[in-house]
Amino acid sequence: MQATKAHALIQAAERFGTPVYVYDQATILDRCRSLLAAIPYPRKKLLYAVKANSNQAVVKTILGAGFGLDCVSIGEVLLGRTLGAGTILYTHNNVADAEFSAAVKMARAAKPRVWINCDSLQRLADLPRRSACFVRINGPVGGGHHDHVITGGPDSKFGIPWEQMPEALSLAAARQHRIIGVHQHIGSGIRDVAKFERAIEVLLSVVRRYRFPDLEYVNFGGGIGVPYRPTEQPMDLRAFGAMLTGRFSEFCREAGRDLTLMLEPGRFPVAEAGYLVVRANTIKETPYGKTYVGVDSGFNHLVRPTMYGSYHHITNASNPRGKTRPYYVAGYICESGDIFTRGDGDENRAAPRELPEVRRGDLLVLHNAGAYGYVMASEYNMRPRPPEVLLSGGKLVLARRAKTVGELVREALGSGR
Ligand code: LLP
Repeated sequence: MQATKAHALIQAAERFGTPVYVYDQATILDRCRSLLAAIPYPRKKLLYAVKANSNQAVVKTILGAGFGLDCVSIGEVLLGRTLGAGTILYTHNNVADAEFSAAVKMARAAKPRVWINCDSLQRLADLPRRSACFVRINGPVGGGHHDHVITGGPDSKFGIPWEQMPEALSLAAARQHRIIGVHQHIGSGIRDVAKFERAIEVLLSVVRRYRFPDLEYVNFGGGIGVPYRPTEQPMDLRAFGAMLTGRFSEFCREAGRDLTLMLEPGRFPVAEAGYLVVRANTIKETPYGKTYVGVDSGFNHLVRPTMYGSYHHITNASNPRGKTRPYYVAGYICESGDIFTRGDGDENRAAPRELPEVRRGDLLVLHNAGAYGYVMASEYNMRPRPPEVLLSGGKLVLARRAKTVGELVREALGSGR
């Protein structure tokens, strides 16, 4: 990590306390621009999957880079509208009728442009007659860093199975809908261009076969992974962009159609921009040969290690040049699964990690915490979520304050309104 970045993280901890999430705006903008630049295809619309990080400062930054939004809930849609998004795709799954109706109502307004991405035949039938909509197609290809995040293929609950396209089309015709977009999202945390290529071929083959006469947009979803371990390589973005452009241009040329290409990455623009800074408070040597570093955070703030066995790189910002030794970094949650040092071995079990000597009071930094970090945090054990801070132009700006313990107590007493 650059010395200036480490210095900013230490400053954030001093100013806002620990634990604290810090997002580096320059990294977010760099990822947005490099993805746009990697895809030479001219008619493209990139959406940001808000679920990865819905902090207003982060979303504003990405909107400023020219992205639209992919939203999964009415909350995300309302946030996007408030922040001035021009284009929103509402990709729901098993939402309540009331939420679906609210989204349909918003889709009638001219601004922002909200499109409904139908996840089932039932929702396609629920749309008011003569709607313009997207359909989410589930083909045979799925992928992802963990079973829980594979969203394509026969074991997935998402989308309309590709075999049911004839039903989808006749339903749409009977209701006089215009299917203006087709969508597919195969999973999350994929760095293999060949996997994306197979999925792209599937979606294009579906369009070739069923034509979709009103089609304007083809959305290949998100899923682009980032390196989490120092030994991992980023996906070859240029190769990805060239493959995507090649396949899509050829398809449009052959079909004689001018279609717009869409992607909806969540992790890629934000993961590497985010840090969770925590403070070590306990160093515990056990007679069983283990050393635990206890920190003032836990899986209530960053659940990925516990939930998926994910590796998050950890540095000691207070003692970067200390002599290294193996540590288990443990949180303060009252569950034995609350260990941050995971993903080091084959299994996703907790494992010791070599870190520069950690002393009581040292600041530890959990890296790559910008995606699916704060958004998956909870108030488990009655602890507030951390504050979120944006590092922008060398300045630290509070982007969301933390609740106080007093507020949590008042809420628990039923008087939090
Ligand atoms: N589009 C749809 C329809 C999605 O379901 C998702 C993510 C995305 C786009 C964005 O995917 P991304 O580009 O971020 O891979 N909590 C997990 C990841 C869950 C992803 C859920 N869907 C994690 O921490 O790894």
